[in-house]
Amino acid sequence: MRVIIYTGKGGVGKTSVAAATALRSARMGHKTIVMSTDAAHSLADSLEIPLSGDIRHIEENLDAIEVDVVHELETRWNEVQKYVSDFLQSQGLGEVNAKEMTVWPGMELMSALFYVWDFYDAKKYDVVILDTAPTAETLRLLSFPEMSDWYFDKLYKIFRNALKLARATVGKFMKTPLPSNEVLKDIEKIRDRMRSVKEILTNPSVTSVRLVVNPERMVINETKRAFTYLCLYNLTVECLVVNRLMPQCSDGYFKEKLSEQDCYMGIINESFSPLTILTATQMPTELVGKKSLESLADMIFGKTDPTVVYSVEKPMDIYEENGSSILSLKLPFSAKEEVELYKTEDTLIVQVGHYKRSVSLPYSLIHKDTKKAEFKDGRLLIVFKGDDQDGRKGGQDEGRGEEDEGSAPVEGDD
Ligand SMILES: Nc1ncnc2c1ncn2[C@@H]1O[C@H](COP(=O)(O)OP(=O)(O)OP(=O)(O)O)[C@@H](O)[C@H]1O
Ligand SMILES: [Mg+2]
Repeated sequence: MRVIIYTGKGGVGKTSVAAATALRSARMGHKTIVMSTDAAHSLADSLEIPLSGDIRHIEENLDAIEVDVVHELETRWNEVQKYVSDFLQSQGLGEVNAKEMTVWPGMELMSALFYVWDFYDAKKYDVVILDTAPTAETLRLLSFPEMSDWYFDKLYKIFRNALKLARATVGKFMKTPLPSNEVLKDIEKIRDRMRSVKEILTNPSVTSVRLVVNPERMVINETKRAFTYLCLYNLTVECLVVNRLMPQCSDGYFKEKLSEQDCYMGIINESFSPLTILTATQMPTELVGKKSLESLADMIFGKTDPTVVYSVEKPMDIYEENGSSILSLKLPFSAKEEVELYKTEDTLIVQVGHYKRSVSLPYSLIHKDTKKAEFKDGRLLIVFKGDDQDGRKGGQDEGRGEEDEGSAPVEGDD
């Protein structure tokens, strides 16, 4: 299965490009689903077909869905929701308010990710295309598996221990309802599912992110930042779609605009090279419905398959060089002043701007101290001291449990 995620600043054309890709993919014979994860859905408008929280068949090889949090609550989150609602009511909250409060921020995002897992597990589709909300929300979506792993692991342990203790002691006399085994099982299931989702999202042969951009300064700047943060979460950005280019024309006013556009195209090419850059011009008529989506697909992909993998470069890599283990993290457009690093015994915490990632170190690196951190060719290189006392060597594996307490800053020499 192939997962293609379109993201970018508000209004750049994510929905249109996602719908056009899905249509072309289906018409080339791939079983495809296009899924909107943006609460302010506009996929239905783009396709000119009504959509809902249930999968709808659009045409041969093409399905579509707009993820709906209320629908998801009733189907997927029943047990957990019931418990949280009972719990809040036991604390004095009215039934209606308690129910409202069981819609946690992030639930919609998780539901969208569960769909990715369901599709992967059921092998129902060849291609899953995600039309997402503007950048910040999408970064939240894509960092969710990482964050939720930590969160649900803790929640599960707290609930399980509380349950053990309360059942043996005061549980029967307390007003607060205890979580049932079903609730615990659900939380465990959510945690395990999210771990699987993380594997799917960070496998570049399966998942890649495509950035949609317009030739405008602010859009380009936001896209650069998005690229950095996506790398931080180990997601492979495989190409850039420059949408709404002005068509060539010699009229006075437009001539000036065109030279401005050329200048921005130069910046885009220079900044994002060697990323594949695809382009589409501004269409003269309204871009809605299958016919115009087909024209958009023609402009972007020509006759090529829109699902080809343009890059499988993983932002994070661990390797050995001159007897030292090196953890290399691609962080384009970031300066060393923006990056903070902390290491606990088994975790490396990398913070870039407001975004933070806890990288679980492989066993081979846990006992090693960091020697230095430096920036080279858009990559942050963290060099670990040689073999530890047990003589263990650095390895290629990646990922375990996470913890971020008691961290100490890593010294950088650059
Ligand atoms: N190449 C194009 N030519 C003409 N119109 C376009 C083009 N690309 C997008 N549009 C139009 O621009 C508007 C915004 O496009 P779209 O909804 O695809 O953007 P978006 O990035 O998904 O927006 P949002 O951030 O609000 O979800 C729509 O009306 C769409 O029809
Ligand atoms: Mg949209």
